[in-house]
Amino acid sequence: RKAVTTSKLKRMKETGNPISIITAYDYPSAMLAEEAGVDAILVGDSLGNVVLGYDSTIPVTLEDMIYHSRSVVRAAQSTFVITDMPFMTYHGSLDQTLRNAARIMQEGLANSIKMEGGREISDAVKACTMAGIPVMGHLGLTPQSIHQIGGYKIQGKNSAQAQQLLEDAKALEQAGAYAIVLELVTEQVAAHITEQLSIPTIGIGAGPRCDGQVLVFHDALGYGSEMAPKRFVKTYADTGSLIRNGLKQYVNEVKSRTFPSVDHSFLMEEEVAGFLYG
Ligand code: KIV
Ligand code: NA
Repeated sequence: RKAVTTSKLKRMKETGNPISIITAYDYPSAMLAEEAGVDAILVGDSLGNVVLGYDSTIPVTLEDMIYHSRSVVRAAQSTFVITDMPFMTYHGSLDQTLRNAARIMQEGLANSIKMEGGREISDAVKACTMAGIPVMGHLGLTPQSIHQIGGYKIQGKNSAQAQQLLEDAKALEQAGAYAIVLELVTEQVAAHITEQLSIPTIGIGAGPRCDGQVLVFHDALGYGSEMAPKRFVKTYADTGSLIRNGLKQYVNEVKSRTFPSVDHSFLMEEEVAGFLYG
């Protein structure tokens, strides 16, 4: 059913074929992402920020992830879908972790899950992988730990940090992760990790030498993200302006009685069916 598999993603690294991933959180965004030909869609817990309006990903629940994941999968039937395990759903017993991961797969209909962290979650990664659930790792700036990290800081700024990141990446690979997101990691450290691993790295704010890239849908398309511009984001289309102007015109036309016109209306003497569609 799915065009891309975890083994195809690994082959893309081997053949130097860059992996393009975008987040999506609902039916229309997933439909557009699939039409654009992305290699995979991430139902990120960034939906907490860009869809639900929280100021971090921490309030996002397993139910939120399942709800959004289902709507994405309905639209993107031929695209590999990765769904984030949200805050604190993979830090209890392995039994509880597996139960939560199973819900993302069975109720959320995802093809894979993603977890933030390094060595400390390698048992969880291994348990899910052994159960047949492909796991994507996530290192560097891990937003679920923002209070522990103390802010959105660039990671891998010195050789000690670089060594820790590399060890974490190797632990995830060893535990069975099929790919790893590197978020806000210095370009040199991301490149070094990419060279040292046999599984693909997916960068966001981690420079051009990762095996693939991921961006948040709303950031890449200027859609409702009113945050200060981030250096690692490129805005590929300014949909925010398009929508804002469209909505203003709609309001103006209603106020001025320009819309609806007779052209948008149904007349008694017209021969139209009594129902709209079909
Ligand atoms: O939630 C998300 O969108 C993510 C990406 C930024 C990697 O985890
Ligand atoms: Na995330």
